[in-house]
Amino acid sequence: MLKQLFSRKDIDEAVQRLAAAIERDFDNEEIIFICLLKGSFIFTSDLVRHIHNPSVIDFMRVSSYGKGMQSKGAITITKDLEENIQGKNVIIVEDIIDSGLTLKYIYDMLIAKEPKTLKICALVDKRERRTIEIKADYVGFTIDSGFIVGYGIDYAEKYRNLPDIYIIEE
Ligand code: IMP
Ligand code: MG
Repeated sequence: MLKQLFSRKDIDEAVQRLAAAIERDFDNEEIIFICLLKGSFIFTSDLVRHIHNPSVIDFMRVSSYGKGMQSKGAITITKDLEENIQGKNVIIVEDIIDSGLTLKYIYDMLIAKEPKTLKICALVDKRERRTIEIKADYVGFTIDSGFIVGYGIDYAEKYRNLPDIYIIEE
């Protein structure tokens, strides 16, 4: 059963707040946004439309999840970056930080490419299962636990098209 957690209005407000914070921090400098597919495709497209800095959008896909609800630990890159990020301001745009393993892996891989700055923007920070030290610079919502879907976020590839965010209840 799906129970609404964040409405499209809540989401819109959060996205505008994040965009304003990013604009403030980067003072019209160029930013490369790295959208982590597939979960953050809607979040990224809303976020970048609120940002007036010169922007470049790139995409990466790593898979850490199968069709279940828990990270399998093994991470593979199935689509790599196309932009050269050396010396650039880079913001990773992620849907959810859960254990933190996925993001830590990506963060370390990108930092090795020597960007000028590397920040993390996460729509949802989920605290309960964090097993690794990683902190997002920009966070839309913080939740303790629960499995959420909607606004790009899936369960077994479903529900990405829902405009609001829901929690799956037994
Ligand atoms: P981590 O490596 O455990 O931090 O996994 C993060 C990834 O797992 C996120 O980018 C999501 O794709 C997925 N994930 C974690 N929690 C949820 C959830 O509640 N709903 C849907 N996907 C989730
Ligand atoms: Mg993801």
